[in-house]
Amino acid sequence: MMTAAKPNTPTLENYWMPFTANRQFKAAPRLLAAADGMYYTTDDGRRVLDGTAGLWCVNAGHGRRRIAEAVERQLSTMDYAPCFNMGHPIAFDFAEKLAAIAPGGPEAQLDRVFFTGSGSESVETALKIAIAYQRAIGQGTRTRIIGREKAYHGVGFGGISVGGLVNNRRVFPQIPADHMRHTLDISRNAFTKGLPEHGAELADDLERLVALHGAETIAAVIVEPMSGSAGVILPAKGYLERLREIATRHGILLIFDEVITGFGRVGTPFATDYFGVVPDIVTTAKGITNGTIPMGAVFTKRAVHDALMTGPENAIELFHGYTYSGHPVACAAGLATLEVYAEENLLTRGGALAETWQETMHALKGLPHIIDIRNIGLVAGIELEPRPGAPGARAYEVFLDCFAKGVLIRATGDVLAISPPLIIEPAQITEIADRVAEALRRVA
Ligand SMILES: Cc1ncc(COP(=O)(O)O)c(C=O)c1O
Repeated sequence: MMTAAKPNTPTLENYWMPFTANRQFKAAPRLLAAADGMYYTTDDGRRVLDGTAGLWCVNAGHGRRRIAEAVERQLSTMDYAPCFNMGHPIAFDFAEKLAAIAPGGPEAQLDRVFFTGSGSESVETALKIAIAYQRAIGQGTRTRIIGREKAYHGVGFGGISVGGLVNNRRVFPQIPADHMRHTLDISRNAFTKGLPEHGAELADDLERLVALHGAETIAAVIVEPMSGSAGVILPAKGYLERLREIATRHGILLIFDEVITGFGRVGTPFATDYFGVVPDIVTTAKGITNGTIPMGAVFTKRAVHDALMTGPENAIELFHGYTYSGHPVACAAGLATLEVYAEENLLTRGGALAETWQETMHALKGLPHIIDIRNIGLVAGIELEPRPGAPGARAYEVFLDCFAKGVLIRATGDVLAISPPLIIEPAQITEIADRVAEALRRVA
């Protein structure tokens, strides 16, 4: 028997929830009913401070009127238009505006934009573009993609193949891929503020995989500049530079999955800007519309794009696309989102707050169970010692405790992941840290 949240609310049976312990959730549901600014309101009227920007996506905070109005306007002007062999001005407009702030700035030439409907679709698109590009330049044997342990690249078959989270992989078949080691090294880097010192040499795993498989079989290597979903894992200083160098030397495309880090999360518009390392393809989604309308975009180097613009003029160059690629309503939401980001300097606000954020989060060191604290921009990962025989249980209980006390954080394995909207005020940073500290003292 499933219980409904309250009398007169729908039964909870029909909705098969994603990435959720359905039976546990439905026995004690947590329902969010409204949102404004930094706060959610639960269905029973409690205010909850959003420490997760929804799911790393509501970077400008909730209930932005400008975005809502743009969506309303677009819906009543033109709700939908086909995007195969037809176009609409707003998609071209949005692509142009995105190109103007593209990762790495104008010199990086990451200014050819392919629209998708989500982060997972952006990843599948990027992998396919990489393989198609290699074939177009006469490197058709390059079909393997290199990913990394603990990586999360969404849930498509390509994404789980290059991803490195066992639960997402074990049941499903995969495309040809191999994996570098992940960059989490608590034994050497625990409680580092910002980028860790140790581990740049882990990039040499790409060299090892080239030696194992042959460069002529590898199309691309994909990494999250900062792994969010696996529990806030940072690259060591120099790691991404080294990866770039090795990839270039072997003719392997470098893909940055910026679905989380894109649009201001690490304190610069993109992590590409933060690290000063320019990949060949960048995947984005989430913050592109402030989480309001599902959308993603793949930024591609002009040279990669141009290599595919060959053959007869009447031939489709890339047999790939989605019904909702460049959806006009999503583009309207995205354009309004970019305006909000620009007006409020949100794409760099995380940088301005990073010091306060870092000091507040690292001040939690010494509380029960904490074995590491990691941070970059407006992201923190607080890793707890797993309870013996019950991995993840402790972090989950901290998450429940914080939610009961009015702060939403995320538990991923034994890591508490915190990534608030970029409009957060210092007092709210303190509030999040205080609730986490209290929960850690309460939880066994
Ligand atoms: C790095 C990364 N790539 C891809 C995805 C998948 O995005 P979506 O859930 O929109 O498909 C995510 C989602 O969290 C992500 O963090």
